[in-house]
Amino acid sequence: MTDMQVKITDTPADISWGEKAVLSFAGNQALIHINGNQDRLRVIRRAARQLDSMNIPVVTLVDTWKKNEQWTFAGSYTRPFKPGRVVFCDNSDKAELEKAFSALLFTRKLINDTPEVLSPMALAQRAADWLKSLAPDAVSYQLVTGEALQAQGWTGIYNVGRGSDREPVFLQLDYNPGGLSDTPVSTALVGKGITFDSGGYSMKSSEGMLDMKCDMGGAATVTGALGLAIMQGLNKRVKLFLCCAENLVSGHAYKLGDILTYKNGTTVEIVNTDAEGRLVLADGLIAAVESQAKYIVDAATLTGAATVALGYDYHAVFSLNPSLSQSLLKVAESEQERFWPLPLEPWHQDRCPSSFADTANSRAQKGGGAGGASNAAGFLSRFVTGNEQGWLHLDLAAAYHGSANAEMPAGGTGAGIKTLAAFLRAEG
Ligand code: BES
Ligand code: MN
Ligand code: ZN
Repeated sequence: MTDMQVKITDTPADISWGEKAVLSFAGNQALIHINGNQDRLRVIRRAARQLDSMNIPVVTLVDTWKKNEQWTFAGSYTRPFKPGRVVFCDNSDKAELEKAFSALLFTRKLINDTPEVLSPMALAQRAADWLKSLAPDAVSYQLVTGEALQAQGWTGIYNVGRGSDREPVFLQLDYNPGGLSDTPVSTALVGKGITFDSGGYSMKSSEGMLDMKCDMGGAATVTGALGLAIMQGLNKRVKLFLCCAENLVSGHAYKLGDILTYKNGTTVEIVNTDAEGRLVLADGLIAAVESQAKYIVDAATLTGAATVALGYDYHAVFSLNPSLSQSLLKVAESEQERFWPLPLEPWHQDRCPSSFADTANSRAQKGGGAGGASNAAGFLSRFVTGNEQGWLHLDLAAAYHGSANAEMPAGGTGAGIKTLAAFLRAEG
């Protein structure tokens, strides 16, 4: 008898376990106590964290768990460093849960791996290799790197990445299960893949920089979502664009006052090298529009302002098409993941004015000024011309937790992959 069995019960814990205890124990059994009017998943998360703090090597879920309750437990129980193992209930959900959980762990590991290990090329290659392993015949891709980025006009990725000795990479991946080259693309996914964000010459403070290995959380999340959808039998064509670069300082880094000219003709004055995410995403969005995808979904750890607005528990949703953001929010609700809308209107694209170019990449104010998350979204909207109505922008405030809390372990969360996988399967 080495493992701990974990059950859910609706009877309250004996007062000897403490007031409103969510956990009690009998032999090798742990009981999670949930009463009828509580938020079930929240109680499960708290119980999982408490159990994990006891360093039990293996916990086995038994009896009356619903599928999403098991998923939630496993996500909250599994910490990044020396994690315990969760054995799902021995029933018909087990195989599916194990597969889906492997997509979550893949996403989290990408986010948690050190910036030294996860160079831009390593990020792009690992994402491509994993997706290829899931659907060898349906996945094809190319990697555009270094000077070829400049030559092909991918100016945002090239310039943000040029301060690093490790070259920037633009991954362009095609999941085409039917194999026909004229099949229309249902969704184009675009991910911010900044493997480390020092801020560049607009350098971050040490505290501000500490978490910035997470700045490829958008790339990890859209990759995890596509992988999960493939495991679930996705039968639509999807393209994936990962904009991978390391934002560092050096004798050949980009500078304040530089002006970038994008493929769509837009010129951008750099007034803050720390507003780099929108610069690399602009290339991804241009490619997404070129793919003629019906829907374009970008995901990025784009602004501190989104976190100020929503905390670490919700991803922010922006769209110029209210019915499209509503449909994503509906999917999120049925997947029991947390997304929340923030404002975006056409005039937000003029919120970063420049005297030298079509737009600046930020307002020259701390954090991009008031409404910084909407202003960033407005900047991005300049690069979806032709498919404004099909575009969703996700600012992933809930992608990473610098430390554990009562519900979540430290590190990358993988939050949102279920919703995005369901969106891919349903829309397009
Ligand atoms: N990667 C950061 C945003 C970020 C900050 C994500 C904290 C997660 C946690 C992004 O590149 C950034 O630096 N944004 C700036 C934008 C500003 C310079 C306009 C910000 O939010 O301060
Ligand atoms: Mn930055
Ligand atoms: Zn960043």
